Amino acid sequence: MTYALVVVANRLPVDVTVEEDGSTSWSRSPGGLVSALEPVMQAADGAWVGWAGKPDVDVEPFDGDGMRLVPVALSEDEVRDYYEGFSNDTLWPLCHDVISPPEFHRRWWDAYRKVNRRFAEAAAAQAAEGGTVWVQDYQLQLVPAMLREIRPDLRIGYFHHIPFPPLEIFAQLPWRRQVVEGLLGADLIGFQRAGDAANFVRVVRRLTDLTTKGQVVHCPGAEGAPGREVRAAAFPISIDSARFDALARRDDVRARAREIRRDLGDPRVLLLGVDRLDYTKGIRHRIKAYGELLEEGRLDVPDAALVQVASPSRENVEAYQQLREEVELLVGRINGEHGQIGSAAIYYLHHSYPPEEMAALYLAADVMLVTSLRDGMNLVAKEFVATCTDERGVLVLSEFTGAADELGGAIMVNPHDIDGMKDAIERAVHMDAPEQRRRMRKLRRRVLHDDVARWSERFLSFLMDDPPHALAGRGD
Ligand code: G6P
Repeated sequence: MTYALVVVANRLPVDVTVEEDGSTSWSRSPGGLVSALEPVMQAADGAWVGWAGKPDVDVEPFDGDGMRLVPVALSEDEVRDYYEGFSNDTLWPLCHDVISPPEFHRRWWDAYRKVNRRFAEAAAAQAAEGGTVWVQDYQLQLVPAMLREIRPDLRIGYFHHIPFPPLEIFAQLPWRRQVVEGLLGADLIGFQRAGDAANFVRVVRRLTDLTTKGQVVHCPGAEGAPGREVRAAAFPISIDSARFDALARRDDVRARAREIRRDLGDPRVLLLGVDRLDYTKGIRHRIKAYGELLEEGRLDVPDAALVQVASPSRENVEAYQQLREEVELLVGRINGEHGQIGSAAIYYLHHSYPPEEMAALYLAADVMLVTSLRDGMNLVAKEFVATCTDERGVLVLSEFTGAADELGGAIMVNPHDIDGMKDAIERAVHMDAPEQRRRMRKLRRRVLHDDVARWSERFLSFLMDDPPHALAGRGD
């Protein structure tokens, strides 16, 4: 059996648990992408090709949540070289303003190519004749061209969830041309912001001989075959807004929010940071600004408290280990100086939590701090807004996030400007209720309207625009 719509992503939308006897069980992982795509996948007979998140899990495809799940196995060496290495220690820092220096290793590149080919072959085996394949994110940038080579009948889309860097930075990559050619195998290349799409088109113009017109790249066909047009455009991703809105209205979630505040000693002002523990998120900058506000007496413990959720991420990559050390040192220092018995200055939580607990935290907070140094979108900012059903709460948002393009009601900050950030936090802390309401209404209108279902519909309808083959209907 083959499938009319195939999603290819580094991760499957389920988590695997490997038992001692080697057997496997699966549980659904609550990602935003899967909730966006689930209805489309169910309607279109979808398959999802991805890695199970652990090395050497080699199991047959199976059905789950109304779609076909197709695991791609990675060996331990491949996890190290393709995932931790090339994806997260070369491409990730390269695409995020080289905040951490990217490492260039030929062995990592070889693994990246090899694993991308495996994903392309797995997708080719699942897709129906004339079907649609939607490739997700920077881990799989070679898949579009590899897939087109095997299956020229397919309509191929690619979405880049992270920033696409300016030419001057992208050009550092020794394999820059191969990556661009990999992406150009797609019919439609989606980015978070118009600026990312513009960066990509400029890279194409400078690094290839292809002609471009606006955001369309013309790729001539081989030996007289007709050429193809590849479009680049912005499709800002969002969240399942209605889900967070509904969570925030639930009695148990609201009770939990009150309990959180009580357990923190009922501070007058609760500040909140929620991030993967990643050097792109500006966690140190934010904590430094907060520490200085305490130092200067502009905020006081126990009047104020900061809860910082830093969920564990990519823990085998050295830059992440180093960041953890630095953050924990800083938190310890500030708590040592400003904490009191029964009231810490910072409640630092190196965990991840289910959506119910996240919604309770968002509801409990007065000021949400999103201070990324560079961020493709930042969905935490949107989750916070969707949860603020009583139109109370202030969002402090870095201008270096994709979300800043859409969330005009936030207080914008440059996280590199510590004094500016301190002023912004102080302003947020003292903002009166009418101004909070006015800003939050504006934010909520945007986030509730432009949700993730709209995002996927927009991308897929762009991709299917004048489609050579229809999406609906099953293959053989
Ligand atoms: C970012 C990337 C995703 C990635 C996620 C978590 O949002 O755009 O592709 O899945 O981080 O990172 P991880 O390495 O754990 O998959």
